[in-house]
Amino acid sequence: MLKDTLLYLAQNPRLRDFVVQNKLTRNVSRRFVAGEILDDAAYATRLLNDRGIQVALDLLGENVSTQEEAKAAVRAYCSAIELITKTSIAANISVKLTALGLDIGRAVCEENLALLLSVGQQHNVFVCVDMEASTYTEQTCAIVREAQKQYPQVGTVIQSYLYRSRQDIEQLVGQGMRIRLVKGAYKEEPDIAYQEKADVDQNYVQLMKILLARGNFPAIATHDEAMIDAACAFVREHGISKKSFEFQMLYGIRRDLQGKLVKEGYNMRVYVPYGSHWYPYLMRRMAERPANLMFVVTNAWH
Ligand code: FDA
Repeated sequence: MLKDTLLYLAQNPRLRDFVVQNKLTRNVSRRFVAGEILDDAAYATRLLNDRGIQVALDLLGENVSTQEEAKAAVRAYCSAIELITKTSIAANISVKLTALGLDIGRAVCEENLALLLSVGQQHNVFVCVDMEASTYTEQTCAIVREAQKQYPQVGTVIQSYLYRSRQDIEQLVGQGMRIRLVKGAYKEEPDIAYQEKADVDQNYVQLMKILLARGNFPAIATHDEAMIDAACAFVREHGISKKSFEFQMLYGIRRDLQGKLVKEGYNMRVYVPYGSHWYPYLMRRMAERPANLMFVVTNAWH
């Protein structure tokens, strides 16, 4: 119930303006967001790299409605790619297609994505296309599958709460696409998505096994120790190299577990969001764990 309310409020522009303009909540957002500018994200990346952790840089922003905003996102991402090469930080890029103009039109988005991928290719930087709400799933899969023909350094995300994901994974794995597996962060209806955690988890483990056995350097993105233990057991039992996949977690979440997995010799990548459009991202993190709401409320008022 609280989860649904928070996901609903993530779309509310009036609450967004109130929260974003409030200095206290802005400060508290730093628990989950590296900062508002690229230099902040680069600083956070260096600290993580020092702990043996790689990074996925995510410029916050989604559902842009003008070509100018989409172009600005492309320019900002190109700067991030150039910075990665120039400073040799261990990082790649994560991007949402609605930040590149998917709501304006597919052609606009594809053109912007191609521009970004060509710069990524030039600098040998991998670009992962995040998966958004289910209204975008079909288009996202189609766009990345098409893009991969020209730019092999692109990958995408599959959500274990969707019934369709098994089929998507088979298709994408068949094409050699790099996939990040997540549970899914949006509110989806029972006709297309599992509603119970146990079902989402069970599907996660099944899809994870496909990726670990046959995927192209998959990412097992979760903070759930049961999922992580299942992945470790599966690779041990099947003699799969720890170097053939990576675990991923979100910035500021389960830092203890991140360090533990690095110590055990696993690849670990942390998703580092930065930028001023952090409101919907923060709301999704609170929906995942209502204790985060208490963290924001108590820290904003003390
Ligand atoms: P689950 O929600 O079951 O939580 C298991 C445990 O992890 C909790 O008990 C708690 O201890 C800890 N935990 C989980 N979330 C937490 C939080 N917010 N704060 C503190 N502790 C938390 N989704 C999507 O739809 N599209 C995408 O592209 C991505 N991309 C993405 C990248 C990366 C690197 C990660 C790690 C996650 C995503 N996600 C995502 C989000 C994902 O779908 C999911 O919502 C979150 O990862 C939470 O699910 P868990 O797998 O952690 O399990």
